[in-house]
Amino acid sequence: MKKKEPAITREDVVRTLVGQRRPAVCPAGSAFAPSNIALCKYWGKRDEELNLPVTSSLSIALENLGSEITLKPCTKWDRISLNGKLLASDTTFVQRATAFLDLFRPAPDFFFDMRAKNSIPTAAGLASSASGFAALTLALNELFGWKLNRRALSILARLGSGSACRSLYGGFVEWHAGAARNGMDSYAEPLDAVWPDLRLGLLLLSEKEKPIGSRHAMQQTRATSPLYAAWPAQVERDLAALKTAIRNRDFAALGRTAEANALAMHATMIAARPAILYWLPSSLAAMRKIHQIREEGVKVFFTMDAGPNLKLLFLRKEQALLTAAFPELRVVTPFGR
Ligand code: DP6
Repeated sequence: MKKKEPAITREDVVRTLVGQRRPAVCPAGSAFAPSNIALCKYWGKRDEELNLPVTSSLSIALENLGSEITLKPCTKWDRISLNGKLLASDTTFVQRATAFLDLFRPAPDFFFDMRAKNSIPTAAGLASSASGFAALTLALNELFGWKLNRRALSILARLGSGSACRSLYGGFVEWHAGAARNGMDSYAEPLDAVWPDLRLGLLLLSEKEKPIGSRHAMQQTRATSPLYAAWPAQVERDLAALKTAIRNRDFAALGRTAEANALAMHATMIAARPAILYWLPSSLAAMRKIHQIREEGVKVFFTMDAGPNLKLLFLRKEQALLTAAFPELRVVTPFGR
């Protein structure tokens, strides 16, 4: 009988990538990383410890909306602040950041002063953990002078949060699922494509903490949803369709596929037992309004993540009409103005 191989830990991955590099601690390390919105979603893991996904995924970066982090060495204990406010050690933010920082301390009595600034609401389904872990990884690379390449940094950021591996780049980014047990082939890369007319509109409907975090929700979906079996093959088709749409600048195909992919992801969650339903009445009303505007001939589509908020996809020429229809819409230009 074949012996079961021991599980690979996050510490093993860190040892492989930075183990040989002697930390040369600088006075500080600072970095910015953009938030990202998936057009083809990451939903379900083949390895929980390393955040290895079941499928590949594709996202678009939110230009200058994201996280900025400065790290400095600190004596006695970690000091972690968010948007200028020192946070208590029992907050989820501090616990997740500390668990990540623990992977990189050169000595057990090495502590960090971490100052984070988010230009997007935390925990409102606008992917702030992705930009946070990406910025933190980049700041660590600066602080310790590792000089790692982007691929290695993408792998390290993934250990904090899966979608963080996509936040190391601007524009369209693909995260290759990979197949290796240690995840060395599971990293993100930018697509060689710019689309200056593309717009993303953030429709914030609720800033309340979500009833269930995406980590737990994807676990529960994979374990209990009878619809999950169909998800990987659907992602493969959607990913191919999105890449073709981007190559051909076919906006209708891009929007249609992204919207269908997000709804398919939500369908897998709704079928989980117990069901996971992030939609609010206002989410559904916004979806209907978008469909109605579309029936009137305006090319507008939406995508949604693990939360009630919508992200609209449209082109520059529709911007005035859509900001009139949704006055609270925050418009992002992923490729600059
Ligand atoms: C719905 O990357 O937050 O936004 O790896 O457990 O930290 P963890 O999950 P996370 O999940 C993101 C899920 C999603 C889809 C996506 O961004 O692709």
